[in-house]
Amino acid sequence: AVIRREDYTAPAWTVPTTTLDFALDPAVTRVRARLSVERSGAHDLPLRLDGAGQRIVSVAVDGVSVNEWRIEGEQLVLPLPGDAHVIETEVEIAPERNTQLMGLYASGGNLCTQCEAEGFRRITYFPDRPDVLSTYSVRMTADKARFPVLLANGDPVAQGDNDDGTHWAEWHDPFPKPSYLFALVAGDLAVNRGTFTTRSGRTVELGIWVREADLPKTDHALHALKLSMAWDERVYGREYDLDVFNIVAVDDFNFGAMENKGLNIFNSRYILADPDTATDYDYDAIAAVVAHEYFHNWSGNRITCRDWFQLSLKEGFTVYRDQGFSADQGSAAVKRIEDVRGLRAGQFPEDASPLAHPVRPESYLEISNFYTATIYNKGAELIRMMATILGPERFRAATDLYFERFDGTAATCEDYVACMEEAGGVDLSQFRLWYSQAGTPRVSVSLEHEPGSGRATLNLAQKVPDTPGQSNKQPQVLPLKIRLFGAETGEALTDEQLVILSDASASVTFETIPERPIVSLNRGFSAPIVIESDRTAADLAFLARHDDDPFARYEAMQQLMLDTLVAATIEGKADHEAVIAAVADTLDNPELDPAFVAEAVLLPSESFVGDQMSTVDPNAIHDAREALRRDLGRELEARWRTAYEAGSGRAYAHTPEDKGRRRLRNVALGYIAASGAADAAKLAYAQFADADNMTDRQGALTTLVGTHSEERDAALDIFYQRYQGNSLVLDKWFQTQALSSADDTPQLVAELARHPDFSLANPNRARSLIGAFGVNQRAFHAEGGAGYRWLADQLIALDALNPQTAAKLLPPLGRWRRFDPTRAALMRAELERIVAHPGLSKDLFEQASKSLEG
Ligand code: ARG
Ligand code: ZN
Repeated sequence: AVIRREDYTAPAWTVPTTTLDFALDPAVTRVRARLSVERSGAHDLPLRLDGAGQRIVSVAVDGVSVNEWRIEGEQLVLPLPGDAHVIETEVEIAPERNTQLMGLYASGGNLCTQCEAEGFRRITYFPDRPDVLSTYSVRMTADKARFPVLLANGDPVAQGDNDDGTHWAEWHDPFPKPSYLFALVAGDLAVNRGTFTTRSGRTVELGIWVREADLPKTDHALHALKLSMAWDERVYGREYDLDVFNIVAVDDFNFGAMENKGLNIFNSRYILADPDTATDYDYDAIAAVVAHEYFHNWSGNRITCRDWFQLSLKEGFTVYRDQGFSADQGSAAVKRIEDVRGLRAGQFPEDASPLAHPVRPESYLEISNFYTATIYNKGAELIRMMATILGPERFRAATDLYFERFDGTAATCEDYVACMEEAGGVDLSQFRLWYSQAGTPRVSVSLEHEPGSGRATLNLAQKVPDTPGQSNKQPQVLPLKIRLFGAETGEALTDEQLVILSDASASVTFETIPERPIVSLNRGFSAPIVIESDRTAADLAFLARHDDDPFARYEAMQQLMLDTLVAATIEGKADHEAVIAAVADTLDNPELDPAFVAEAVLLPSESFVGDQMSTVDPNAIHDAREALRRDLGRELEARWRTAYEAGSGRAYAHTPEDKGRRRLRNVALGYIAASGAADAAKLAYAQFADADNMTDRQGALTTLVGTHSEERDAALDIFYQRYQGNSLVLDKWFQTQALSSADDTPQLVAELARHPDFSLANPNRARSLIGAFGVNQRAFHAEGGAGYRWLADQLIALDALNPQTAAKLLPPLGRWRRFDPTRAALMRAELERIVAHPGLSKDLFEQASKSLEG
């Protein structure tokens, strides 16, 4: 049944306290729950508890076993005479048969939980909705030898041994919370401990829990946690509120991590790192996810969501907060470039697809399908725009107001915006359209200049495209940071200005502009939009060289490359001069940070080029991009070799400077290989063999995998042998091959799916092959549709085990409208085959059926 935002009603019954008693066993776990319930308001509705996949042993009301209950759909319905009762249920569940990884499940011999969004109902009967806040006390009993560590939310209360080889532990969480934040872990785990003292003097005991053998890989995560705690105090005035904060890493996890109160549970890929197994990118991702989950303690836990339509209230805001944290740890410019690249790779295509939805959706079939780039990353851009409109001081006053006013409650996006308005002293009525209208606004820009009067006029016009179920949209509020530069002198002609475009079109005039101006636009990517401007290649090259905003500089370069690639793809005309000159300039500029240079000289991805075209021609795009890469490699070969050498011969260190050098060195290696230089494979192989860290090893492997060389096969083999048994690194082995631009990737991927180390049961492994192949535009869309068929087969097989993970991998098939009729028909045929598959989950059904309609 479709759930609609407009149908929200407050809960009929509240649950002030919840006491849970677990007899933990992987085969059969018995759960006894004791809920105090209170009627809310005057009504005579029965109590309804959500549940799924459990065997009910008994139900009691006020201490007396009762039979007056019924099951309706997935709910236990209990008519109750009075206004306050105690409900006790006893159920049995089977963690080791739980392949969906929602609720209580087994991973690597340990037991753990995942409850967001609706996993708690797979553990016990409960009003499993985020606006029912309850205070939890938890008791766990388990075999002491197999499960020596027993953890739950909040603070530990007591523990002890029984005579039968079992032991028990009790935990109490004093903060009322929704059921999706419940967590427990039972396992054989070792801990890396630390402490953090809050500004008000509370000493918090920190623990990162992992398999004993992984303990040496936990220092980076622990350090990131301490930095996050200090950052949230300094930047948002938010302190931690319990005496312990635990993080557990597990290998089988449906997404990145989970912010359960006091007991975060993580996908091990976002905890474990050492130089031999984790890339620089992995290190940064670990710090970002640790920070994200920690920040949820306030934006998510202390203030939660009223209903799941408000998901971006906690996710958009928390992503914005973790982006700010990461920006403060290193280069803010490079971080912004990475975040915008991620938005363009993940969210813009979603907004242009049949699965497009507003940041605050209106309806869903399965809420798991709405943990999307739109809710998370576009949601973060909405917060960023409000912060830009308010300015730093008023934004901080507004978040203070929000945290104070809604602490301990389940709030809405509207509550958040109202705080921004009130403390910011601004009217955001029209801004709210960002929450309700889907689609990426497109802004066209032109600049006129009258040399005689010195007047310049900037003309802006916006259009929000139609999306499924939404057409004829209203103009949105677009905060655009702009600055004018003089084409002759290269001087800035104005200060940076914030122009707020809120009408369909508007003009901004500038007086006393003495020379022809060039506009630097949407600086810092101040609004998440697409710009269509009439700037020439020469103007873009000018900005790439002179703009003082590093993002705008990067952006000018990207636009220049994009225009070149689109022209080459459509008209087959290869005019590479301007790009080559701009890249040469960037490489020659000694003032630029190598990490920035590495970003700036990278060509837009094949999919991003495809996104600019009305019909994507994957082969033509690939050929155009390879031709440009080859010319850049050849024409600038000496420079690439210099950049390569500059980054070579240094022992590994994990400093921002060394990371930047490694990044540029690996980009340079890619261009040397693209040039067709005779020694390229040898050079890459030498880097592969000599590397003292994973960044260089994987960088070399990525380059080798794109070549047809003996070195490619040798390196893949050595890599595999070396890391057998390390599942996170084997994921990279699968992923690197699935992302390869080599011609034989489709066949190779099909073979890899039959490799003994491939398994659909582990989400990381499934994503490393299936997910990577789906975004490899050329390989996935290879003529004949074999890639589509293969993906559909994998999704159908995975759906039987883990619907949530299967549904997440479907979107590449839904982009059929963007391709030629032959490909579109083949893609639709696979979507139809999926929809018709008997026993399909509602997760995959919703994604596939919407993809056909939209
Ligand atoms: N709240 C978690 C996080 O962002 C993710 C939970 C994802 N849940 C889901 N059903 N996909 O940090
Ligand atoms: Zn989150």
